[in-house]
Amino acid sequence: MQAATTTVGDLIADVADKFAAADLTYGHGTDNAGDEAAWLVFSVVGLSWDAGPAVYREAVSEPERARVEALASRRVHEHRPLAYLLNEAWFAGLKFYVDERVLVPRSPIAELIHEQFQPWVDPDGIHRILDLGTGSGCIAIAAAVAFDDAMVDAVDISADALAVAAINVDTHSLGARVNLLESDLFESLGRRRYDLIVANPPYVDADDMMSRAEEFRHEPSLGLASGKDGLDATRRILQQASRFLNDDGILVCEVGNSQPALEAAYPDVPFIWLTFEHGGAGVFLLNKHNLEELCQATASDKTS
Ligand SMILES: C[S@@+](CC[C@H](N)C(=O)[O-])C[C@H]1O[C@@H](n2cnc3c(N)ncnc32)[C@H](O)[C@@H]1O
Repeated sequence: MQAATTTVGDLIADVADKFAAADLTYGHGTDNAGDEAAWLVFSVVGLSWDAGPAVYREAVSEPERARVEALASRRVHEHRPLAYLLNEAWFAGLKFYVDERVLVPRSPIAELIHEQFQPWVDPDGIHRILDLGTGSGCIAIAAAVAFDDAMVDAVDISADALAVAAINVDTHSLGARVNLLESDLFESLGRRRYDLIVANPPYVDADDMMSRAEEFRHEPSLGLASGKDGLDATRRILQQASRFLNDDGILVCEVGNSQPALEAAYPDVPFIWLTFEHGGAGVFLLNKHNLEELCQATASDKTS
């Protein structure tokens, strides 16, 4: 007797049931068992997200089914993010190579890039962009795609992360406009000036680092941890960013759950907290003038 054909839809439903029955944490590209199962099956079978509903009735070959089952089993038993098992992540509609040397891209800043940071900037005035803490290079590369004649510097302190970013710059053929630099935040940037600085620095506080789910323990802690209150890197960025901005330049920086700690630490700073249609929070915007005032206030606090 011939074995029954497994369809794409059957396989997704089966894997989704397995994921739902396991104690998994999401947040590395999807937020539920069904979407995670669909991502796994689409990726292994090589289906396009633009394919219509008929694709769910297509047959899956036996080797494809076996590979999906094997990866699903690793996802359940190792609690490893699917992005690492597939070596792929999606950000701003673009595909990126990822492995354990970089965080899995998930910043809501993707939405701002898609909108070319409007209404906060005039896109025609954006010629030089800095991505601080580039990791996989996702923000730098998506920004270079959105601003198609801008030059982008992409900085990371981790040589390992920069090796991954280099793969992505190459895949997206952006070597002429995305410049990868090993630097401790602004330290190696000399006298460079930017119209837009985008930062997704590490911002997880010590308590959250201790209690984080197993999935997040596969990510490099250099990309997550930032001191007791999660603000070590952000404090340095706030102190230094104005010197690297052109007069009309802005800083857009993500601090996630550390938003309340940041507001408490800088009660007089007029942070603009950006809102997102597709989820996410904890991203602020400041202009050069705000940042200069912040530096002056800090300097006078020290002298008084
Ligand atoms: C939250 S991850 C963001 C990665 C990527 N931009 C994204 O959105 O997925 C922070 C990144 O900052 C880097 N980083 C940590 N400390 C740094 C420092 N002092 N200077 C430069 N980069 C740093 C980490 O290696 C990591 O790649």
